[in-house]
Amino acid sequence: MTDKLIIFDTTLRDGEQSPGASMTREEKVRIARHLERLRVDVIEAGFAAASNGDFEAVRAIAGQIKESTVCSLARANDRDISRAAEALAGAARSRIHTFIATSPLHMEKKLRMSPEEVLEQARLSVRFARNLCGDIEFSAEDGYRSDLDFLARVVEVVIAEGATTINIPDTVGYAIPELYGNFIRQLREKVPNSDKAIWSVHCHNDLGMAVANSLAGVKIGGARQVECTINGLGERAGNCSLEEVVMAVKTRRDYFGLEVDIDTTQIVPASRLVSQTTGFVVQPNKAVVGANAFAHASGIHQDGVLKARDTYEIMRAEDVGWAANKLVLGKLSGRNAFKQRLQELGVDVASEADLNAAFARFKDLADRKSEIFDEDIIALVGDSARAA
Ligand code: KIV
Ligand code: ZN
Repeated sequence: MTDKLIIFDTTLRDGEQSPGASMTREEKVRIARHLERLRVDVIEAGFAAASNGDFEAVRAIAGQIKESTVCSLARANDRDISRAAEALAGAARSRIHTFIATSPLHMEKKLRMSPEEVLEQARLSVRFARNLCGDIEFSAEDGYRSDLDFLARVVEVVIAEGATTINIPDTVGYAIPELYGNFIRQLREKVPNSDKAIWSVHCHNDLGMAVANSLAGVKIGGARQVECTINGLGERAGNCSLEEVVMAVKTRRDYFGLEVDIDTTQIVPASRLVSQTTGFVVQPNKAVVGANAFAHASGIHQDGVLKARDTYEIMRAEDVGWAANKLVLGKLSGRNAFKQRLQELGVDVASEADLNAAFARFKDLADRKSEIFDEDIIALVGDSARAA
């Protein structure tokens, strides 16, 4: 039997923490509906105790989403947890996600609590939450910079109190793939009741390694939930990007041996929706969802792709929601790509000599003009017919 990898989307919570990405309740509901169509397993809808607006957004999403589990974040205190439970009351499936920091730095400087106090607060909070909801996720904030033995004690206690998912964030994007994967593995080995919970990874992108770290947490560490966002939206340099992690697991199924339930054809529409809603433009060379992710400009690549797409494509554009791949015509393009475009435009060229003449004119034009439009090509063929 193949293992399943749970996809936990936090675009509406951690993604929204990106400066300038705040969304209205209606916008969040629209995105949540799309995430459900994408078939994400868990939608983190917000942080109910953060504001009345966030509470209402979580409540609205909980009322409308039927297939995905709807989750609210809550600090490890009774007030936050009660607000989360209240906002989630109408959900078909709900999860309370409670967290407390466990690194020496965060405990001492931010929380001003001793490790024993943190451990006790984690225990009591999960106990309290478990009475309100059957699905409890516990996160050890700044988990990756925590002492392994202390973290193992915290995790053992919260699992004993009924936490069903254990999330170990790399809150500040400090991890390196191999080290993070080993950290999760060692932690699981140290926790005696580790198999009573699903292990989860949550990586930030400060060093550009959020996706690689998450995948190492899965492959080396044995995590079976990845927390991610559409377009990698999130605090500072962002979170692990959903589209990249999903397509990595699907494309390299030979290596990961895992299934995801995601309907990948909804990825590009989801990316566009999030980009339009937040105003955060997707860079053209972004993997999977960037405008150039399936575009070929060089003649050698275009020729290869026309003969067999696998030569330069490891995924199909159509599988992630693009209409098709693209052969971009420019100064690097070859004769085959030019001929193919003429066929697509329904332009007949009488002879090979006409085609060669038109292609020569096209190359001259492409040296002068960075973008060649279909109209340019039609005009070129006319010119070459006249010249012949
Ligand atoms: O990055 C982080 O530590 C978080 C937790 C609250 C899960 O977002
Ligand atoms: Zn985070």
